[in-house]
Amino acid sequence: MNPRFRMALTATAVLSLGSAIGFYGAFGVADAADSIAQPGQQSDSSTGIKAPVTQAQEDPAVTRGRYVAIAGDCAACHTDPHHGKPFAGGYALETPFGKLLASNITSDKKTGIGAWTEEEFTQAVREGKGRQGENLYPAMPYNAYVKVSDQDMHDLWAYMQTVPAVENQVVSNQLPFPFNIRLMMMGWNLLFFDNTPFKPVAGVSAQINRGAYLVDGLGHCAACHTSKNFLGGDKGGAYLQGGELAGWHAPEITGNPYVGIGGWSDKQLVQYLKTGSNHVAVASGPMAEAVTNSTQHMRDEDLYAIAAYLKNLPGSDIRSPQPLKATSPLMQQGANVYSANCSACHNSNGKGINQLASSLAGNPGLQADNAQSLITTVLEGGRGAVTVDNPTSGAMPSFAWKLSDQQIAATLSYIRNSWGNAAPEVTAEQVANVRKERKLPGQLSADGTSR
Ligand code: HEC
Ligand code: HEC
Ligand code: HEC
Repeated sequence: MNPRFRMALTATAVLSLGSAIGFYGAFGVADAADSIAQPGQQSDSSTGIKAPVTQAQEDPAVTRGRYVAIAGDCAACHTDPHHGKPFAGGYALETPFGKLLASNITSDKKTGIGAWTEEEFTQAVREGKGRQGENLYPAMPYNAYVKVSDQDMHDLWAYMQTVPAVENQVVSNQLPFPFNIRLMMMGWNLLFFDNTPFKPVAGVSAQINRGAYLVDGLGHCAACHTSKNFLGGDKGGAYLQGGELAGWHAPEITGNPYVGIGGWSDKQLVQYLKTGSNHVAVASGPMAEAVTNSTQHMRDEDLYAIAAYLKNLPGSDIRSPQPLKATSPLMQQGANVYSANCSACHNSNGKGINQLASSLAGNPGLQADNAQSLITTVLEGGRGAVTVDNPTSGAMPSFAWKLSDQQIAATLSYIRNSWGNAAPEVTAEQVANVRKERKLPGQLSADGTSR
C-alpha cells in the first residue's frame, strides 16, 4: 500500500474511533437494574453491592467510599448485569469498530486490581492511565473523574479494597487493528482531556459548588448530556445542552425554561433523580439506569445541590417555536392516531398518569429539537426507572409492529405541538432511520407479514 495513503487511512481511523469511543453514550450501557444497594442497606440481588452486616464496625472511609462508588456509578459498566459479580467486569461496550470490555476491578490479585497501589488506582481513575502506563480508552470516563477530590479518591480506594475478589480474566481491548493501538488515545487526550482538578467558583454558594463538583466529576452527566464533536470531544459552548446517544437523546438539563429544566422546581428535579419520575417526566432508557443504580441512592442534600447548580446554568438560547397549526393535515392525522392508541394511558389532555405514564403536556424533554428518544420510545416501548420509592414503574408498549413511520411521525408531531407544547415536526424519514438503526421490524400488514 502506498505509505501516504496508509497514513491517511490511519488518521481517518483515529478520527472515527474518537467519535465512537470518546464518550460512552455511543454504547449500549448496562441495564444493571438494582445492581447496587443503598449505603447501609442490604441488597437482595445477585449483582448487588452488599453492605456488610457489621456496619457498626466498618471503617468510616469504606462507608464513604461506597457512596463515592455509587455517585460515580462505577457498577454501570464494571458489573455485568446478566451474569456478573459486582465489579468483576466483562460487560461489553459495543462500538462500531468492535468491543471494549470493562475491566475486572475487584480485589482479586491476579485478574483484578488487588495487587495495585493506591497511586496506580488513582492514576487510572483520574488520568486514564493503566498500570503499565498505557492509555485507557475514554469509554472509561476519566475525563470527568479527574475532578474527583483527593479525599473521595482515597475513600473510594478504601472501599474498592473491600470488594470481594472475583477471578475473572478480562481482556478489555477487543478492538481490531488499528483501533486497538492505545497510543492513539494520546492524541485524543491532548485535544480533549482537561487535566485540571475541580476548583470551586468564588462568590458562589457552597451548595452550588457542591452541585458542580458532583455533576462534572463523579456524576459524569456531560458524558451523555453534552453534545460531542466529530472527534468525540465535548463540543464547545454546548455544556449540558443535550447530547445524542445511540437511539436516545439526553435532553438539555440547564435552566433554559423551554427545553431545559428551568421550569421545574428544585423539589421536582430532586424527585426525578430520587424516584425516577416527577409531575411530568418518567426516566427511561439510559437515564432509568442512572437513576436506578446511582442517583436514587444519593443523599437528598447532594441531589438538592445538583438541582441548585443545574438550574443556575443559563444554557442554550433555544426558545419555543410557534406550534404547528392544529388544523394542518399532519396534526389531524396525529390526533386520530393518538386518540386510538395513546390516550388510554397519556389521557386526551396529555397529562398522563402521575408517576406512571409520562405527562406529555408541559414536558421539556418532549420539546427538544432532537426527537430521537421519543421515536425510540414509541417504536420499542420502554419501562420507567425502578426505584425504592417507585418499585413497580409503568411500562409503555412497543408500537413498531402496529404503526407506520408516517403514523408515528404524525403522532409525535401532534404531541409536541398540543396542550401548550411547541417543537419542530417529526418526519417519517426520521422514524424510518431509527427503525433501521435499531433493527426493528416494520409495521405488520393485514396478512401478518412485516412490511
Ligand atoms: C461508562 C463506563 C464506565 C464507568 C461508568 C466506569 N468505568 Fe472504569 N473502565 C471502563 C472501561 C471500558 C475500562 C477499560 C478501558 C481500557 O481498557 O482502555 C475501564 C477501566 C477501569 C480501570 C483500569 C483497570 C485496568 O485493569 O486497567 C479502573 C481502575 C476503573 N475502570 C475504575 C473505575 C471506577 C472506580 C469507576 C467509578 C468511579 C469506573 N471505573 C467507572 C468503563 C467504565
Ligand atoms: C448514560 C447516559 C446518561 C447519563 C450518565 C446521565 N443522563 Fe440524564 N438523561 C439521559 C437520557 C437518555 C435522558 C432522557 C430520558 C428519557 O427520555 O426518559 C436523560 C434525562 C435526564 C433528565 C430529564 C430531563 C427532561 O427534560 O426530561 C434529567 C433532569 C437528567 N437526565 C439529569 C442527569 C444528571 C443530573 C446526570 C448526572 C448525575 C445525568 N442525567 C446523567 C442520559 C444520561
Ligand atoms: C399502556 C400505557 C401506554 C400507552 C398505550 C402509551 N404509552 Fe407512552 N408511556 C407510557 C409509560 C408508562 C411511559 C413512561 C415509561 C417510558 O418512558 O418508557 C411512557 C412514555 C412515553 C413517552 C416518553 C416521554 C418522556 O418523558 O420521555 C412518549 C413520547 C410516549 N410515551 C408517547 C406515546 C405515544 C405517542 C403513544 C401512542 C402511540 C403512547 N405513548 C402509548 C405508557 C403508555
